[in-house]
Amino acid sequence: MTTATRRRAPYGMEYARIAVPDMAATIEFLRYHVGLQLEQHDDEHAYLRADIEHHCVELLSEPGREVSQTVAVGFSVESGEVLDDLRERVVAAGLEVLPLQDRMKGLCDRGFGVRDPNGLIVELFTEFHEYAEPPLVELRPLDLVHPFIATDKYDECLAFYTGVLGFQSSDHVGDVTVFLRAEDRYHHSLALQRNEEYYVAHLCFMMKSFDHVMRGRARALYKNVPIASDMVNHSASTSIAFYLFDPKHGPRYELCDGHRVLTPEEHETHRARRMTVDPRNIDVWRAAADDWGRF
Ligand SMILES: [Fe+2]
Repeated sequence: MTTATRRRAPYGMEYARIAVPDMAATIEFLRYHVGLQLEQHDDEHAYLRADIEHHCVELLSEPGREVSQTVAVGFSVESGEVLDDLRERVVAAGLEVLPLQDRMKGLCDRGFGVRDPNGLIVELFTEFHEYAEPPLVELRPLDLVHPFIATDKYDECLAFYTGVLGFQSSDHVGDVTVFLRAEDRYHHSLALQRNEEYYVAHLCFMMKSFDHVMRGRARALYKNVPIASDMVNHSASTSIAFYLFDPKHGPRYELCDGHRVLTPEEHETHRARRMTVDPRNIDVWRAAADDWGRF
């Protein structure tokens, strides 16, 4: 299929909006452990950024909750033309077109939201505002790469993200995990896992280097933050990563290095692999077919 005939996907992930019980503690967690910089905030919400984009995390203060919940994800779209085409597809699928969150209306040119089959709000917009300079912080991510969504509506979600929003499949592990590619050509800008429950399982941040991944890991060990999954060499995206997890502060945060970016030609011609459900097809450093223990 050529670019002329393919209806385009969103460009790439920009932010997650996460409701948290103790916003001040989560801000500190994200500053120290992920390397994000706090920007505008008040008692109800806070924006944190990784690079020049306006924010990659918006926190909502909800003191009544026990654990966090990711309520929305935002994807930029490369042009007004593509945004209109996405909106047309959403309408044709019989889905409701939602207004952007009020604060977001002032941080982009235009856009809209749509609920995925699990009710997660996906916001799509053009011309996301940015800063002239990145944060003057050495140990920080360069980008928020993807959400990983566990879902009890796997087939519906796959149909929604590929059939309606135009993501392309990069790889499958059995019929339980799929990695989906947007126009920024990361191997995946979204992943789905068949599960008995729905939850946003992790958010992946790309660090500047493997050295910085290891420095993040050292900080997690130093502060006794649980490492949900340690040093994984991903067969699908070629990234090496570990995952931090404290449910009060969000989903698992994956800090990675080396996530594959397809070339423009590969982006149009890549054939998604069908890999068997084997731990070595998720992490090539697993020792054997039954080495599931560390996930
Ligand atoms: Fe990931």
